[in-house]
Amino acid sequence: MDSTNPASARIPVIFDTDPGIDDALALALLARHPRFELLAVTTAFGNAPVETTTRNARGLTALYRQDIPVAAGAAGPLLDKRRRKDAAHVHGDDGLGGMAAGLPAPTRPLDPRPAHRLICDLVNARPGEITLVAVGPFTNLALALAHDPSIAGKVRRVIVMGGAFGLKGHGGNVTPVAEANIMADPEAADQVFTAPWPVTIVGLDVTQEAIMREADLDRLRGRGEGAGDLLWQATRHYQQFYDARDGIGGIYAHDASAAALLLVPEAFTLRAGPVRVVLEGIATGQTIQDWRNEHGTGTPWSGHPSQQVCVAVDAARVLALFDEIF
Ligand code: BDR
Ligand code: CA
Repeated sequence: MDSTNPASARIPVIFDTDPGIDDALALALLARHPRFELLAVTTAFGNAPVETTTRNARGLTALYRQDIPVAAGAAGPLLDKRRRKDAAHVHGDDGLGGMAAGLPAPTRPLDPRPAHRLICDLVNARPGEITLVAVGPFTNLALALAHDPSIAGKVRRVIVMGGAFGLKGHGGNVTPVAEANIMADPEAADQVFTAPWPVTIVGLDVTQEAIMREADLDRLRGRGEGAGDLLWQATRHYQQFYDARDGIGGIYAHDASAAALLLVPEAFTLRAGPVRVVLEGIATGQTIQDWRNEHGTGTPWSGHPSQQVCVAVDAARVLALFDEIF
C-alpha cells in the first residue's frame, strides 16, 4: 500500500455493532478490506441480547482472523421505558440465522472495559484519526459522549446506519416512520446527531436500495477460508424474512452500506443539515433533517450542528466491494 497517497491510506475504525446478520457482512468488509485498519469491535443489545451479540462479535472477529479487542456494551437503552423485544424473527434466536455455533473460538479474552470506555480510550490515544462506524442502537456512543464529552472534538468522523427520511418511498421498518436502530434508543440517537462531531447518516433510504440478491450472496460461497460459507448460511434466515416481507429475492445490505461509504464515497449523494429524532407521540423514532438552510432561531434544529444524510446511492458500487474481500 502506498502510504504517501491519501487515497490509499488505511482508515482507522472502531466498529460498534449488534451482530446481527447484516452486521456480520459489514464486519467482513471492515476486517478484510485492505483499506481499513480495524482497531476494535464494541457491542450493544439490538438484534439480540448483548450477551449474544458479544458472543457473535468475538466469534466473527476470530472467523475474519482479527486479533483485536472486543468490548461488551449497553444491555438496553438509556431510558428503560424504551425497552423493546429483540429481533429474533429477523436474525434468528442466536442473531446469526442459526450459524453462531459454527463460529471459531475467540482468540483473546473479552476486553474488561465497557464498550464506551474502550471507545474513549482509543479515541484519546489517537486524537483526530479514528472513525466510528455504528450500526446498532447508539447507546454506547451516547454513553461515551457523556463519559468524556471531549471525544466529540477528537473523533475524525461518525458513520451510522440508522434512520429513515422518507425518500424514494422508503419509510421506517419498525413503524411507518421509525427505523430499528433509532427506535431501540431514540434518546441516544438524538444525542449522537446533535453532538459537535461530524456524523454521516446512512439510512433506509439508501440501504434498502443496496439489495444483495441471491446470486450476489451465492458468490460468497467457498471463499474466505470458511467465512463466505458461514455468511451464505446465515443469510438464508435473513433472506427468508425479507423475501416474505418485501419479495426482494435477497437481503438489504444495511450495515455494510455504512462501511462502504468510507471506501466508495463517490457512490453516495449527501445532504447537509441538522438532524433531530422525534421523542414523543406516534412519530417517535422518526429522523428529521432540516436541510432548507432556513434554520433561524427557536426551532428544534436551531443551534445544532449540520450533519450529512445519504439521499442516493449507486448500489452496484457498494455490492462490488464484496468481491474485493475474500
Ligand atoms: C438495522 O437494524 C438491524 O436489524 C440491522 O442490523 C441494521 O443495523 C436496519 O434497520
Ligand atoms: Ca445492526
